[in-house]
Amino acid sequence: MHVLVTGGAGFIGSHTVVALLERGHQVTIVDDFENSSPRVIDRIEQVTGIRPGFVEIDLLDEPGFRAAFGSIAPDAVTHFAGLKAVGESVADPLRYYAHNLGTTFSLLNAMKAHDTKALVFSSSATVYGHEQQPPYVEDAAALTATSPYGMSKVMLERILTDVADAEPGWHIALLRYFNPVGAHESGLIGEAPLGAPDNLAPYIVQVALGRRPHVRVFGDDYPTKDGTGERDYIHVVDLAAGHVAALEKLADVTGARAWNLGTGRGTSVTQLLAAFEAATGRAIPAVVAPRRSGDVPRSWADTTRAEAELGWSPTRGVAEMARDAWRWQQQNPNGYAADDCVS
Ligand code: UFG
Repeated sequence: MHVLVTGGAGFIGSHTVVALLERGHQVTIVDDFENSSPRVIDRIEQVTGIRPGFVEIDLLDEPGFRAAFGSIAPDAVTHFAGLKAVGESVADPLRYYAHNLGTTFSLLNAMKAHDTKALVFSSSATVYGHEQQPPYVEDAAALTATSPYGMSKVMLERILTDVADAEPGWHIALLRYFNPVGAHESGLIGEAPLGAPDNLAPYIVQVALGRRPHVRVFGDDYPTKDGTGERDYIHVVDLAAGHVAALEKLADVTGARAWNLGTGRGTSVTQLLAAFEAATGRAIPAVVAPRRSGDVPRSWADTTRAEAELGWSPTRGVAEMARDAWRWQQQNPNGYAADDCVS
């Protein structure tokens, strides 16, 4: 099938494009490269031997995007484009709501206009808020979130569900990601955060490289296995495979349906640090800092629904995540900033 991938030059998007191409699908990426690089397209071609189509456009340019959508004429869409930094969203909520909702409205209007009604949407475990205890089950409680970023995902899940309920013919997968880590095994594509990383794994990598003095451990007095926060880290290649599985099942989905994409296992900050120390062979200094506002102590997925209905389950653990993230970083010390891959 021909799949339009918004945000296809981003971290999860690029790995999904590789997985789609490897499964024989045709791909057209739509990206404005605001938070990514056109070099990703070359790297995807290096990995797969296939150059995906791409159109550089901002989804908020609604007439332009609708025209581009008409020329691409995809069978389905995977929608990754969006702003995703939790702290930034607290500081500038208007920008986050306007962007994440506006881009999705533009996409939905284009899809409706061209009668393309198959969509895989990037949601997040953040929609479980502080209400549930892990493992998080898809329909166990009403959704909520602690940040404007998270609330934009809660709102969009609702909007997509309403759209699908109102009109027959929509097939929408709401994929709730846990914590993606790692990189493609080739070391050619990976995570390339701009500035200081917000997330733990990319921060650890920068400390291992000697770019930052130490990791700050946000709280060691949580009610968890060792006092530090527990998360469900999932290898980005497994996460990408989850998208392909959802896309290939979409025809069986009536309306909108949510799936958790996680491993079902909690790993503490201390355990993730240990995995990176083993993978890098380097000591990674860490100091305990106060808890970060908005963090939940523990978060991991109930994976029953994804396994049963998508026939998908992740196969890689934190050792592989650390190994592959480190390989990517060593081969690309400046991310995509210069074409200096040393493989
Ligand atoms: N942490 C540290 N030091 C750091 C960064 C993080 O100790 O420098 C800790 C956090 O307190 C948490 C764990 O490492 O216990 C993971 O933190 P991340 O920032 O890597 O990930 P989060 O679980 O906070 O955030 C992720 C996604 C968000 C999403 C959120 C909620 O990045 O997009 O999950 O599901 F909103």
